[in-house]
Amino acid sequence: MDVEILVGTMTGNAHLVAQELELRFADAGTRIVTRLMDDLAPAVFERDAVFLVCTSTYGHGDVPDNARDLFEALQARRPDLSAVSYGVLALGDSTFSDTFAHGGMRFDRLLAELGARRIGERFSIDTAGGTLPEEAAAAWMPGWLAQARAAAVEA
Ligand SMILES: Cc1cc2nc3c(=O)[nH]c(=O)nc-3n(C[C@H](O)[C@H](O)[C@H](O)COP(=O)(O)O)c2cc1C
Repeated sequence: MDVEILVGTMTGNAHLVAQELELRFADAGTRIVTRLMDDLAPAVFERDAVFLVCTSTYGHGDVPDNARDLFEALQARRPDLSAVSYGVLALGDSTFSDTFAHGGMRFDRLLAELGARRIGERFSIDTAGGTLPEEAAAAWMPGWLAQARAAAVEA
């Protein structure tokens, strides 16, 4: 199975999480590639892979700057993503109580609107919560990978 982790980040936390997942979970049966969203176009979703959107949140619940072009291109062009499976790791800070982890939520909603199928539940990580975000993600990842593999067998 090929997994592409698409990273939306401003100060590197989400990138660190993605790199840690790649390091820990890539093996003979699971190829994992991490891509920063900078300069990615909607065509990235044409690749034969399962996607994991790993993004933080800025502004008032917005996606980070490096994710903005991809997000807006998806909104404008509205490609058919019905062949796409994805998961979401949403980083945020729970002191922003009204917009906690909304960057990931916004991607989740948009991808679903475009017909993509989410694997598992969206997982939100509170980076002000005391646990290292990469440890929280690493604890969540095996369950998500198992669901992704099961979905790939079904398809
Ligand atoms: C100016 C600013 C605005 C933020 N706004 C939000 C927000 O609305 N909701 C949220 O959950 N987190 C918010 N955060 C917290 C970041 O999403 C969080 O620190 C995250 O770990 C940053 O990850 P990154 O280094 O990958 O960008 C904000 C942080 C900053 C500095």
